[in-house]
Amino acid sequence: MTDLTDQFNRPLRDLRISVTDRCNFRCTYCMPKEVFNSKYQFLVRDDLLSFEEITRLVPLFVEHGVHKLRLTGGEPLLRKNLEVLIRELVKIPGIDDIALTTNASILTLEKAKELKQAGLNRITVSLDAINENTFKRMNDMDVSVQKVLNGIDNARVAGFESVKVNMVVQKNRNEEDIVAMAEYFKGSGNVLRFIEYMDVGNTNGWEMDQVVSGKEIIDRIQQKFPIEPADPNYRGEVAKRWRYQDGSGEIGVITSVTQAFCQDCTRLRLSAEGSLYTCLFASTGTDVRRLLREGASDEYISEVIASLWKSRTDRYSELRGKNTDAIHKVEMSYIGG
Ligand code: GTP
Ligand code: 5AD
Ligand code: SF4
Ligand code: SF4
Repeated sequence: MTDLTDQFNRPLRDLRISVTDRCNFRCTYCMPKEVFNSKYQFLVRDDLLSFEEITRLVPLFVEHGVHKLRLTGGEPLLRKNLEVLIRELVKIPGIDDIALTTNASILTLEKAKELKQAGLNRITVSLDAINENTFKRMNDMDVSVQKVLNGIDNARVAGFESVKVNMVVQKNRNEEDIVAMAEYFKGSGNVLRFIEYMDVGNTNGWEMDQVVSGKEIIDRIQQKFPIEPADPNYRGEVAKRWRYQDGSGEIGVITSVTQAFCQDCTRLRLSAEGSLYTCLFASTGTDVRRLLREGASDEYISEVIASLWKSRTDRYSELRGKNTDAIHKVEMSYIGG
C-alpha cells in the first residue's frame, strides 16, 4: 500500500459512498421543497453506480489507505437491497468498518436485522427534534418523531450496540430541543451529537446568524446536566466528545463552522452517479463512472484516485467567508453527509 497524502499531508482513510440522491424527507436545510419538488430531476437507475461497480472501485481506494466506509444518500435505505451491497463490501480485505447514515424512518426491524447480518457495523440516525411539531416542520414531510425513534429501537434490537443520533441545530427552529434531546437520549446507550448548521449546497439560504455555536450548545446542556470533556476515540474524529458526570453516557458536538477540522480531514466522497469529491463543499467532482463504463483498467483508475488525492488542497471550512461566498457548491443530499 502506498502511503498517500495530500498537499497538507493528510492521508486518505475514509470513503463515503452515496447510494441514492433521493430522500423521503425534505429537511428545509438540506432538500427544501421549493427546489426538490416534482420538477427536480433526480438520478435515474442507469445513472447510479451499480453494486458491482461500487464493489469493483472500493479495493482501489483501499490500496491508497481507505479502511472505513460510510453509506449515505439522500436516504440510503431507499436503495433496494442495500444489504446485498454490504455483504460484498465486508468481504473486501482492508475494510474494517462499515457505517450507515439514515433518517431511520423506514428502518424496520426486519431491515435492521438484514443489515446487521450482512455485516454493517454501525448506524447513525439523523433526528433534529424531539418535539413533534418542530420535527415535522423540519422534515417538511409530516414524518413523526415516533417513526424515527422506532427505527432507532429496531437498530438496537437487531444488535447494533449504540446508535449515533445527529441533530443539526438551527437558531429559532430547534434550539429549544437541545436540552430536550439530551434529556431523552441520556442513559439510553445512544450517543447524541449536535451539529452546527453549515452552508453546504446553494439551496438552503444559509446565514451565519442561523448557526448556534457548539460552545453555546455545551453551555446550555451544562446548565442542566454536568458534563466534562472526553478524549477523542481516534485522530481526526469530527465530533468533540463530552461525558455526563453521572456516568449516564456521552454526547458530541460537531463544530464545522466555529472550529473547523479541515487539518485532519481524511474523507473522500463518491456520489451516487460515480463522481469523486475531495470536499463536502467542492463544486466539481471527478467522474469515475465514465472510466468504469469505458473499460478503463483498475491500474488506471487507481492512478486517477492517487493523483486526485495528492493534488488535494481543500479546506473550505477553514476559509469560510474569505471569498468563498460565490462558489457553486454541490448539494449535500447529492454527495451525502
Ligand atoms: P464516525 O466518527 O465514524 O462515527 O462518523 P462521523 O462523525 O465522522 O460522521 P457523520 O457522517 O455522522 O458526521 C456527522 C456530521 O458531521 C455530518 O452530517 C456533517 O454535518 C459533519 N461532517 C462530517 N464530515 C465532515 C467533513 O468532512 N466536513 C465538514 N465540514 N463537515 C463534516
Ligand atoms: N448542515 C449540517 N449538517 C447537514 N446535514 C445535511 N445538511 C446539513 C447542513 N446544512 C447532515 C446532517 C444530517 C445528514 C444527513 O447530513 O448530519 O443528519
Ligand atoms: Fe434527507 Fe438527511 Fe437531507 Fe434530511 S438531511 S433531506 S433526511 S438526506
Ligand atoms: Fe474536509 Fe472540506 Fe469538510 Fe474541511 S470543509 S473538513 S476539507 S470536507
